[in-house]
Amino acid sequence: MPSLPALPKRLHSPSIWALYLLGFIPAAWGFYLGATGRLPGNAVKEFEHLLGIWALRFLIATLAITPIRDLFGVNWLRYRRALGLLAFYYVLMHFLTYMVLDQTLVLPAVLADIARRPFITIGMAALVLLIPLAITSNNWSIRRLGQRWSKLHRLVYVIAAAGALHFAMSVKVVGPEQMLYLFLVAVLVAWRAVRKRFLRWRRQGNTHMRSQPRPG
Ligand code: HEM
Repeated sequence: MPSLPALPKRLHSPSIWALYLLGFIPAAWGFYLGATGRLPGNAVKEFEHLLGIWALRFLIATLAITPIRDLFGVNWLRYRRALGLLAFYYVLMHFLTYMVLDQTLVLPAVLADIARRPFITIGMAALVLLIPLAITSNNWSIRRLGQRWSKLHRLVYVIAAAGALHFAMSVKVVGPEQMLYLFLVAVLVAWRAVRKRFLRWRRQGNTHMRSQPRPG
């Protein structure tokens, strides 16, 4: 299988910072358009939606890193933390936009929404679950928590599923966009259930190929 040219080691860290910078562009651009009156319709809603969609995209990108490595041999593991943290920052901005600009900090209205509208309850649960993951996304926590770190970070599957469900439930009629996000999350989560078997099967295949006598 042809592989991508490897990035020189000295560019690993700058490329991660570049990803953070790039990652914040949609939020900054959306904010600029909103602040200058160039977002169509209800600017607050548009901005809130933009942040929600990008949160979901970053969650999906985070989940895609492992299957990309398993299937295509491309190791982008070094970008996974940045993608996960970008997802968290977008969910946080999405929530703050809802709370400050949409609900104008009227706490009883926010609490009533969380309690009464199931799609907001699910979104809120996803945000709460993301907090420990964001706090422990550093080398010190990985060392401290050991095996427990991996177990804790498996919550990301629940969070992504909740995010996609929240999106589907936020609309009156589920359309192709919501279906696509639900499908992508389902495939990426399902991959975890079969990946060990797949890797074993591929290893066995390679061993078998090597043990075959070469023709000629
Ligand atoms: C992992 C967490 C979350 C993700 C991935 C997420 C994602 C999304 C997405 C994709 C949309 C629809 C955007 C569109 O229509 O284009 C949306 C809408 C919305 N979300 Fe979230 N969200 C999350 C958490 C939250 C939280 C914590 C709240 C507030 C407590 C919230 C409140 C809302 C509201 C009010 C809407 C708009 C519904 C409307 O159209 O009026 N979300 N979210």
